[in-house]
Amino acid sequence: PLQPVILSGGSGTRLWPLSREAYPKQFLPLTSQHTMLQETVGRLDGLAEEHPRQAIAVRDPLVVCNDAHRFLVAEQLRLMGRRAAAIVLEPKGRNTAPALTLAALVANQSDADPVMLVMPADHNIRDEPGFRTAVADAHALARDGAVVTFGIVPSKPETGYGYIRQGAPCEPADLHGAAYALDGFVEKPDGETAQRYLASGDYLWNSGLFVLRASVWLTLIERFRPDIAQAVTLAFESAASDGDFLRLDSALFAACPSDSIDYAVMEALARAARSGEASDLPPAIVIPLNVGWSDVGAWSALWEVREQDASGNVLDGDAFVHNAHDNLLVAKHRMVAAIGVDNLIVVETPDAVLVATKEAAQDVKAVTQFLQREQ
Ligand code: GDD
Ligand code: MG
Repeated sequence: PLQPVILSGGSGTRLWPLSREAYPKQFLPLTSQHTMLQETVGRLDGLAEEHPRQAIAVRDPLVVCNDAHRFLVAEQLRLMGRRAAAIVLEPKGRNTAPALTLAALVANQSDADPVMLVMPADHNIRDEPGFRTAVADAHALARDGAVVTFGIVPSKPETGYGYIRQGAPCEPADLHGAAYALDGFVEKPDGETAQRYLASGDYLWNSGLFVLRASVWLTLIERFRPDIAQAVTLAFESAASDGDFLRLDSALFAACPSDSIDYAVMEALARAARSGEASDLPPAIVIPLNVGWSDVGAWSALWEVREQDASGNVLDGDAFVHNAHDNLLVAKHRMVAAIGVDNLIVVETPDAVLVATKEAAQDVKAVTQFLQREQ
């Protein structure tokens, strides 16, 4: 079986003022009339039918999120006629490595060592059938014990992503597309390094999607971060089940060190493989993903993802433009008119308005940092 695991604990601060602490971006309908969480859940529909020979049984998703968002998750799944295998509630986010460890422990309870498809809740994918075909390939590789990542051909020296070095092609039987050995993993390199990786042509961006067996993840986290494995296991053992919710003890989970999948495991796994001390470790593989993937991290990315009119404007809500190009206007409450301006982001909400240039879209988190200090 394939167990989708949705990591939905992020805060989405660069999409302020629509994305708020109580209502982060994954719960908003940013890219379609469905929320990003709903898009993530629905993206797998059709996988089993499209790949009948592989006979992949797709389980209900397992969602790991912040306790404060439990009703948002439950309600958004219910509205699409779905339910979760479980909704695991973190009292406070400890980043993705503990979240995935929790998911692996929960998944192993109901199924004997399922293959997990780990998905961020806030990505956009244009070619969904193409995505599902790549997932079917990843499933075939992960069933045999591999750690499978998906790589995106980089288009700029982005420092907010992980970089995967693409190694020799691997040729197991019956894949639809290509797969390569993962020959290096560097999370969020500095600008100079990113520039070098881009120029070399040897690197792909890490998409943040992973496919691996629950037992494989548990072995890796125990090996590279036994402190995380131990703290999460303790918290899991005393977790309280409440319908679909699985609630963790605050103090026990707070005692867990915070780290990401990428730093805690992927970098260490790649390093061990290169130094040849990895004979007992699972092989790591990268599948190139050419399906219009986008991490909708900032307003500029949303402008890129959404359909633009003939002048390059994206208008959401009651918005008017005249002699204006390449703007993103979001009007939630009042009308917004933009005249003679280019490359602007304007986001209007009842209690806050953002005006920024597209180039400065990454700096929007300065506002939320400021607001946090004010509190
Ligand atoms: N449950 C839970 N708990 N989920 C979390 C937590 C947490 O503490 N922290 C983050 N998440 C979720 C976010 O909601 C998001 O869906 C996903 O995990 C990834 O977290 P990000 O914080 O967005 O990671 P990133 O963007 O800095 O980097 C990752 O994604 C990049 C691609 O978008 C890495 O995997 C990079 O290597 C990768 O390039
Ligand atoms: Mg992200």
